[in-house]
Amino acid sequence: MKTNLSSLKKPSILVANGVNLDLLGQRPSQYYGKKCLSDINKGLRKIEPNLSKLFGFSSCDLTFVQSNCESEFISFFSTEYSAAIINPGAWTHTSLSLADRLEALNLPFIEVHLSNLALRKERVRSISFIRPHAIGSICGFGYISYESALFAILAFLKENHHLI
Ligand code: DQA
Repeated sequence: MKTNLSSLKKPSILVANGVNLDLLGQRPSQYYGKKCLSDINKGLRKIEPNLSKLFGFSSCDLTFVQSNCESEFISFFSTEYSAAIINPGAWTHTSLSLADRLEALNLPFIEVHLSNLALRKERVRSISFIRPHAIGSICGFGYISYESALFAILAFLKENHHLI
């Protein structure tokens, strides 16, 4: 459903990280960089006011979640949010149930990965169950993948005038 921008002055965005992303900072830095998840989330909070302003929003509510339990992770997604930024970790390559929920909710989301999945040696990492339901995917830029996704989701919400 679409409406004018004034009804979306303050979008709410869920930033959801799945299995093992709580271990960032200890995982192989050649793929995942050196920052821990709370540093990445702090970085998003820091750039949010400028990005919100850039796209004409008064601000944007960021909610950060992480889980190592698949059913809990899947339950985080609901239409109470305007949009989501999602890195499911290894569930990207396995979770049909996550994909089914995202498809059913019709929640606009961007799939994010720190590493460049196309360059990883395990071919299974090139498979993503959620990608067909995403607005788009950003991967390979480390923590900048998340910052780029925040830019892109706000641009998308502005363009599409989505309801909260
Ligand atoms: C990841 C890539 C996945 O293949 C892996 O299982 C992860 C992290 C990434 O951000 O690059 O846990 O999603």
